[in-house]
Amino acid sequence: STPVEEVAQKLESPQDIGFVFDIDGVLLKGKKRIAEATEIITYLSKKKIPFILLTNGGGMTEKKRIDFINMTLQLTETPIHEDQLIQAHTPMKTLIPHHKRVLICGGPKDDVREVAEGYGFEDVIRPVDLIRANPTIWPYHMFTDEQIEEWGRDPASSKLDVDGTGCGENLPIDSVLCFNDSRAIGAELQVILDLLNSEDGVLGTRRTYKSGKPSIPIVFSNNDFLWSNEYKQPRFAMGALKIAVLTIYEKINGQKLEQLTLGKPEKVCYDYAHHILIDWRKVLLGEKQPGNLCLPQLNDPPINTPFKKVYMVGDNPESDITGGNNYNWGTILVRTGVYQEGDFERNPETSRPSLGIFPNVKEGVMAAL
Ligand code: G3P
Ligand code: MG
Repeated sequence: STPVEEVAQKLESPQDIGFVFDIDGVLLKGKKRIAEATEIITYLSKKKIPFILLTNGGGMTEKKRIDFINMTLQLTETPIHEDQLIQAHTPMKTLIPHHKRVLICGGPKDDVREVAEGYGFEDVIRPVDLIRANPTIWPYHMFTDEQIEEWGRDPASSKLDVDGTGCGENLPIDSVLCFNDSRAIGAELQVILDLLNSEDGVLGTRRTYKSGKPSIPIVFSNNDFLWSNEYKQPRFAMGALKIAVLTIYEKINGQKLEQLTLGKPEKVCYDYAHHILIDWRKVLLGEKQPGNLCLPQLNDPPINTPFKKVYMVGDNPESDITGGNNYNWGTILVRTGVYQEGDFERNPETSRPSLGIFPNVKEGVMAAL
């Protein structure tokens, strides 16, 4: 038997323990797999030990991302189910009953529209739709005519009358939902601030009073300030856009913007994940069908947990580990991602993992088991 089997044989009840895995830096590195992830994920699936994936990433449907993960990790025998995936914007599904006509920000291309419509939002407006309806709303945009034609909705169908000429119905927008990192940051900043300071979400209008409460709600899917790609230095992520929105809003209103932020390390995201992990355990025990999991409400923590212990496995102390520690889960930090040797010495405030730092996800899970 392999060491992992020896360790797990000691488990009396495999469903008493749960794992929540971060994706980037734990299971994947860029678009490539982290080899140890394949072995340990396969093992957990075969043993029916409950686990889910919780990422601050997004921008594509849960189905597309899980297909990519299964393919990349070569999990043909024991594929991960899309129910087991929570992306940063997944909990926004909860908002559908009260948010019908929504401005969905972030990229890439038109994929985010597909995600939002797939969740069931009735009327999805994208910044490129506004530019198509009236380019003067942000004349510095860098979309080509072809992109506007391809990605932008026909203004008549989206009932947009941005310039107030009275040609369209100009229906109010219910909320601004920032799904993913911005690809058109200038345009998004302008139209977001327009709406937050409008008369009840009607574009082209400006309210007459100042307030910390925006005219329509705004939700950010995560607070990540930086992300890393092939460039030498980390790049700005959604947290940077959020700072810009908050700063400009305060300049206009003299008060701090009231907003909601999802994603790790926010408690709201861990509550949501906890519900899903509990329901996935029910699937493993044959008490529920996959595809039929609950839709947790925001800020509604589970009353009871069936788990003796849940572990958050992550590569980022600031999001994964801080959030897991605050939620009283065990935390496992891996060396395959954002965390660098010496980070704790350089920044003593950084959250430390309760179980320890491990070379990779497999070693961390084995220690937990
Ligand atoms: O926000 C950037 C994204 O890459 C984080 O992903 O899976 O590490 O939470 P993850
Ligand atoms: Mg990560």
